[in-house]
Amino acid sequence: MTRRYDEVMSLSLRRGFIWPSVDIYGGFAGFYDYGHLGAAMKRKWEDIWLKYFLGLSDRYHLIDTTNILPFKSLKASGHVDHFTDTLVKCSDCGVSHRGDHLVADTTGKSAEALSTAEIDSEIENLDIRCPECKGKLLPSTEFNMMFPLSVGPTGTDQAFLRPETAQGAYLNFKREFESLRRKIPYGLAIIGRAFRNEISPRQGTYRMREFIQAELQIFFNPRTFDDELDFASVEDEPIRISFEDEKEEGEVGEIRAGDLLDRLPKFYVYHMVKIQQFYLDILRVPRDRFRFAELGEKERAFYNKIHFDIEMNIDSLGGWGEINGIHYRTDHDLKGHQAGSNEKMTVSVEGERVLPHVLELSFGVDRNIWAFLDVFYENEERALLRLPREIAPITFGVFPLVSKGGLPELARKVHDSIKDDFSCFYDETGSIGKRYARMDEIGTPFCLTVDFDSLESDDVTVRDRDSTHQRRMSISGLPEGLRTLLKEGSGF
Ligand code: GAP
Repeated sequence: MTRRYDEVMSLSLRRGFIWPSVDIYGGFAGFYDYGHLGAAMKRKWEDIWLKYFLGLSDRYHLIDTTNILPFKSLKASGHVDHFTDTLVKCSDCGVSHRGDHLVADTTGKSAEALSTAEIDSEIENLDIRCPECKGKLLPSTEFNMMFPLSVGPTGTDQAFLRPETAQGAYLNFKREFESLRRKIPYGLAIIGRAFRNEISPRQGTYRMREFIQAELQIFFNPRTFDDELDFASVEDEPIRISFEDEKEEGEVGEIRAGDLLDRLPKFYVYHMVKIQQFYLDILRVPRDRFRFAELGEKERAFYNKIHFDIEMNIDSLGGWGEINGIHYRTDHDLKGHQAGSNEKMTVSVEGERVLPHVLELSFGVDRNIWAFLDVFYENEERALLRLPREIAPITFGVFPLVSKGGLPELARKVHDSIKDDFSCFYDETGSIGKRYARMDEIGTPFCLTVDFDSLESDDVTVRDRDSTHQRRMSISGLPEGLRTLLKEGSGF
């Protein structure tokens, strides 16, 4: 792990963002829990994701579906047969490794596109040995990553923990089509847990066995969808993009959305712009840390026809890393479920019989939380987490300057007057400098301090996290004044 990884993990452990699950028993590889600040930040990230992506259309809605799915539904979706990674075992110590990771760790290049036979020949040619004991590695096999379950007392009903939230939307497609008045396009979003028995969970929350996805499935008629979107409103937007042959070198081009149409469908490019705007404009991720990276035919998931990862440049993970994906799944899933269930998935829209296609916007919540902790954390002159205020776990710290002279009583009153409207934290312990430093380190954008002038003038000091500048705000004007402050573009 890098020094930066240790730095971000240390912040995370000390302050209560994320830590290994069950760590009093030595941990449980691939499982992480959120502490009080992490849970608050995650909830805010999910809320802003929902607000933005459901806001793209009146016809996009949130649903909630089960974590356990029966064998036959995942056989029909292709996961029983194709949701595999390459497993390589050591002949000496028996430890399991992911074949493509062994090759990538040796060559420094992604090996995700390699077949088991190609991985075996790379292992032989490069003389790759077991990283644990230097033993000889056995021939690789395909390993299905789903967690199997036996449901019911007899255990005869075979099922799996869902490997992606997406399937819940496909299984409910027909019912929602009926309840949404038989029109497409429409979208179903799910935020929930997904489960994968990763061969080698690693890099903290980057590769977990239980994780959270926020996915939006957009069902559309491929003949008409392009014309149903306002492409003119996005066509001049420069998109930060790396094609398959450029991404290993870390190259990123900025290409006008309209100029991508000779390579990608309009509906696809339109949603790339919307996703980029979410990261750059709403969440204010530095532009040079964001890109779309194309996956080639052999690298992409079995259900995708077009697949770009949405990446951030994350120092603690050694550079560009996938945090989300934008997937054109065609009619793969509905066709599979139609065949598996004998339920017709074609629909009649304006006299035309259509098997809808799916565009999936797939986000990994845990990877986002980690990426934001990394990208916005500075630990040089002062420890400072410059989180966008919308996802900061605490929005306002409220303090008396000192804990005497009637200041704590007034500060408590200030806190009580705003605590129902904002996430706040009251603190009177330690020096004011230490209290500011604690808030800076967990990303609290503003602190309100009651001082002796407050007793006379009915106002408090408001301190901006990033600039440390202060201004005064009337107590009787709260919470309205704070609402206005949060709407302002930047601090002061
Ligand atoms: N429904 C499509 C789908 O699941 P995916 O690329 O396999 O596509 C989507 O996963 C996102 O879920 C990824 O971009 C990543 O953020 C997150 N994800 C996938 N596997 C993960 C893991 N083992 N640990 C943490 N997050 C993971």
